[in-house]
Amino acid sequence: MAQLAVNVDHVATLRQARGGVYPDPVHAAVLAELGGADGIVVHLREDRRHIQDRDVRLLRETVLSRLILEMAATGEMIRIAGEIRPDIVTLVPEKRTEITTEGGLDVRANVPQVRDAVARLHECGIEVSLFIDPDPPQIEAAAQTGAEMIEIHTGRFCDASTNIAKERHFSEIVDAARLAKNLDLKVNAGHGLCYNTIKRFAGIGIIDEFSIGHSIVARAVLAGMTAAVAEMQALVQKCG
Ligand code: PXP
Repeated sequence: MAQLAVNVDHVATLRQARGGVYPDPVHAAVLAELGGADGIVVHLREDRRHIQDRDVRLLRETVLSRLILEMAATGEMIRIAGEIRPDIVTLVPEKRTEITTEGGLDVRANVPQVRDAVARLHECGIEVSLFIDPDPPQIEAAAQTGAEMIEIHTGRFCDASTNIAKERHFSEIVDAARLAKNLDLKVNAGHGLCYNTIKRFAGIGIIDEFSIGHSIVARAVLAGMTAAVAEMQALVQKCG
């Protein structure tokens, strides 16, 4: 059965919008686990735009399922991962100007560097996943790095504007997943998945774990709005 890893970055985005202490992604992670999350994902970006070092440290102490740290394969991040020891590191490409991760890692062009990063993380007892586009040469290159798993970038499928394009990108994902399985890689998938796009994967049975963040946090904001307003209204009523 497929598993769900919940990315709580956007809870931190909301907190950082005011630079305060709430909402706390650590609290969100607890609630996500109570809701059945099989793992908690955070992306510690080099510019610390949402998740902070303190969040990752506290999550390491509080997450009961699995802590999955997304990060660039830089010396600084590998050192932090070695200190905090998440269960899994997902290596992602990172550009300072991007709104969110754009495209997968170019593993094919950087096999020795990626292999070195994977080996350094393995020395710390951390499993490694590589975030890559559903392109066969990237999958084949990933299998040469020693990484246990890949995460297939589902962005092209989720962003496609026509049904024909959507189906083409969906087939690319399924073919890439089959190839990866044949190469003994565990296969995760994520980026841009929402309450509609996830339905296309029903019954396919080839993805081990989905990594989903933005749509879940967005849904939580609206699903919790009525209760949040009612709570504040009760307090305002005492101010008359
Ligand atoms: N997987 C990776 C590697 C990501 O970078 C992200 C975005 O942080 C996700 C999954 C989750 O994407 P979304 O927030 O669109 O669900």
